[in-house]
Amino acid sequence: MDIVIVIEYAASAAALSVVLLQVKRRLELSRAKPRSLAGHARLARRVASLMPYYEYDEDRFFRSDNAPEHIATLRRDGFLRLASLYRQRFPETSAMTARVRTGASDLQFTSAYRVPFQYSRYVRQRLPSGSMLMSSDGVTVRDTDSNAMYDVAGSYGVNLFGYDFYKDCMARGAERVRDLGPVLGAYHPVVAYNIERIRQISGHDEVSFHMSGTEAVMQAVRLARYHTGRSHIVRFAGAYHGWWSDVQPGIGNPSTVRETYSLAEMSEQTLHVLRTRRDIACVLVNPIQAMHPNSAPPGDSALVDSGRTAHFDRAAYTRWLLQLRKVCSERRIALIFDEIFVGFRIALGGAQEYFDVRADIVTYGKTLGGGFPVGVVCGSHAWMKRYRDDRPADICLARGTFNAHPYVMGAMHEFLRRLEAPELLRLYDGLDELWARRTARMIAALADEQVPVRVENLSSIWIVCYTRPSRYNWMLQYYLRAEGLMLSWVGTGRLIFSLNYSDADFAEVTRRFVAAARAMNQDGWWWSDQSSSNRAIRRQALREILAAWWRKGSRLRIASSAGMRRELLALDQFAAQEVAGRSVVQLDVMEWVSEDLGCPDQTGLDIPDLEQVHRTEQQAANAYP
Ligand SMILES: Cc1ncc(COP(=O)(O)O)c(C=O)c1O
Repeated sequence: MDIVIVIEYAASAAALSVVLLQVKRRLELSRAKPRSLAGHARLARRVASLMPYYEYDEDRFFRSDNAPEHIATLRRDGFLRLASLYRQRFPETSAMTARVRTGASDLQFTSAYRVPFQYSRYVRQRLPSGSMLMSSDGVTVRDTDSNAMYDVAGSYGVNLFGYDFYKDCMARGAERVRDLGPVLGAYHPVVAYNIERIRQISGHDEVSFHMSGTEAVMQAVRLARYHTGRSHIVRFAGAYHGWWSDVQPGIGNPSTVRETYSLAEMSEQTLHVLRTRRDIACVLVNPIQAMHPNSAPPGDSALVDSGRTAHFDRAAYTRWLLQLRKVCSERRIALIFDEIFVGFRIALGGAQEYFDVRADIVTYGKTLGGGFPVGVVCGSHAWMKRYRDDRPADICLARGTFNAHPYVMGAMHEFLRRLEAPELLRLYDGLDELWARRTARMIAALADEQVPVRVENLSSIWIVCYTRPSRYNWMLQYYLRAEGLMLSWVGTGRLIFSLNYSDADFAEVTRRFVAAARAMNQDGWWWSDQSSSNRAIRRQALREILAAWWRKGSRLRIASSAGMRRELLALDQFAAQEVAGRSVVQLDVMEWVSEDLGCPDQTGLDIPDLEQVHRTEQQAANAYP
């Protein structure tokens, strides 16, 4: 009898300790999540679904910051001048865009999300610049009205060496494979060189070809799961890895993603989770996040205030990657560098070379296609193998009708061959220094002009930041366009330069950029008074949101309502304390929502983020030892 009691007691104690351990692990996971919606996908979606639409009427459009009447008049005059210039300069381009837009979902989306939604319709109707281009040449593109503009959009990062370079790769590549044409399923012989060269550049044994970056990431993750036998992936809050469900949880993805942890980057707690959990197959790193760890890439539709921050600290990020490398090796977790954006751009060997940290699996895409769509996965034989010698039915499938399409392989072949030419390789010498100098020049020119704008860079990638609280920073994209600078639809959140920009080209871009900022300043958009602060702006926008909720008769008026509290608690205790503790929805809600919308430069299909929601995290990350 006594023995039975002892056994029961021991069993209960064992069960309890298992439960306690699970609770501990769960709490540790909570701590490793960013204290924001970026780490809480379900909550983010719920908050997004509560965001009411409202917009400013004409009067409010010019005075949403309660500026005095004479400032509103300045702004109105400036706006009318711009609108008239746009009408004269872009008649054909904007008319054609309007015609196409009705049937083009992508265009409808991007034009709606260029600026914060309260201003969107008003701007859309009056400043239609259009999204139609006819040609490219050097560092410029030309629209259907024959306006030549400096390209600072960079084709989502594809354009690294200048459009003429890619036109050449595409044409010569096509010549190489013309006789084979569209035959799929077997390789054209150009592939042999492509594989060999990518192996050299990446330092990995094997290569697989896919049709897009998104698919390359899907395959990398699938391989990690297959070889580790574990279910979960770790991605860092805000990082974009394509739009496949598992790597894009939260707003924008209607399905619930169950096997992804969105953790804080540059965080000790995250390292602890990686050291202790047993279900993690891989960690995905997008090195562009080094500019804004834990925040989605900035887009102008998120420019609610001037809180956008960015700063690249190479030494701190290198230390972080080294720690990740160590823990991943110890725990046999696949460290995946997603170099689809930065690959070839920051160094010939991409982030692996730049930070001198070796990943287990690397994905490339964008520029590597020589102008055509592509995704590539590289890794050791062990990580890349898709079957097991001892269990023939246990395979890891990867398909794609157009994988290794002859025309893509032909252009890639040309791209890689050109990368052997000394004159091209010389572009990488002193690349960082060159772009640091150019960035400093732009910052100085803006400071001389006394406009509240500065830029931050990671090599040839820029983020424009604003130094005075304002609700109108997003207007700058329209002034820049008027000066003949072609930005992507996410506006000043990301400018991408190609390496064929000469000093003279760059000086001209600087001149135009400063002229645009000067004009915007003169038109009163950056007016502010003593009471202006980013916090005050966010609170004001919050009040507007709540008022819109109220008007719409929403039952859920404030997030501190019982329902929302319950939801928060169910999701994550620590986030709940953090969020519900504030007792009312702060304007952060608005930024949170957009945070998960984000991924500007990536593809035409992405949604813009709203930006620096997690300023505290950002600061913590910047201070990472
Ligand atoms: C880091 C990263 N990963 C994945 C992707 C997805 O690539 P794709 O748009 O070719 O599917 C992108 C696209 O921007 C990216 O920047």
